[in-house]
Amino acid sequence: MHPRQDQTGSVIFEPIGVICTPFPEPKGTPIQSGLEPGHRGRVEVFEEYAAGLDDVEGFSHLILLYHLDRAGRWTPRVRPFLDDADHGVFATRSPLRPNPLGMTTVKLTARHGRFLEVEDVDMIDGSPLLDIKPHVPAFDHRADVRIGWIEGRLDKRPPLADDRFSK
Ligand SMILES: C[S@@+](CC[C@H](N)C(=O)[O-])C[C@H]1O[C@@H](n2cnc3c(N)ncnc32)[C@H](O)[C@@H]1O
Repeated sequence: MHPRQDQTGSVIFEPIGVICTPFPEPKGTPIQSGLEPGHRGRVEVFEEYAAGLDDVEGFSHLILLYHLDRAGRWTPRVRPFLDDADHGVFATRSPLRPNPLGMTTVKLTARHGRFLEVEDVDMIDGSPLLDIKPHVPAFDHRADVRIGWIEGRLDKRPPLADDRFSK
C-alpha cells in the first residue's frame, strides 16, 4: 500500500500551510480570480516546509492548490455560477467536487521568510494549502482553446459568488 493511502484506499494529504484572505465565507468571494483580480491575501507555509520556498521569489505567479474545506456535498451535476443550466461537475470549476481541490494562480508580490504576499485570491480565509507550483506560461498556457458552455457567459454574471454552494 502506498504510504499516502489508508486501509480503505483513501488518499491522505497534510496541509503545508494556510491561505489568509479577506473573504470569511463563500458568498461574496470572487468566483475566479481572473474575473475579479487584485484582492490581496497572505500564504503562511508551515515551518517544516519552509525550505521548499527557496527560489520562489523568482516567479511572478504561483499556482496554489488547496482544500475547499467548507464545500458541501458533491453531486455529479451542478449549476455553476455562470449559468442557469446544470453541467457535469468535471465540466465546471464548482467547489462541490468528489475531491474538493481548489486551484488558483496568484501574483506573488513579496516574500517574508515563510510568508508570501499574494494578489488575485478567490478562496475563503483559512483554506488549507496543499501545494504550491510556479506558474510557467510555456507549461500552463494553451493557444486555440475551446471553452464549452462558458463561451459567451464570462461577462454576463457578477464575479462574486452567491451562497449556492455553501454548507
Ligand atoms: C468556483 S471556486 C474556484 C476556485 C479555484 N479558482 C478553482 O478553479 O479551483 C471559487 C468559489 O469557491 C468558494 N470557496 C472558496 N474557498 C472555499 C473553501 N475553502 N471552502 C468552500 N468553498 C470555497 C467561494 O464561493 C469561491 O467564490
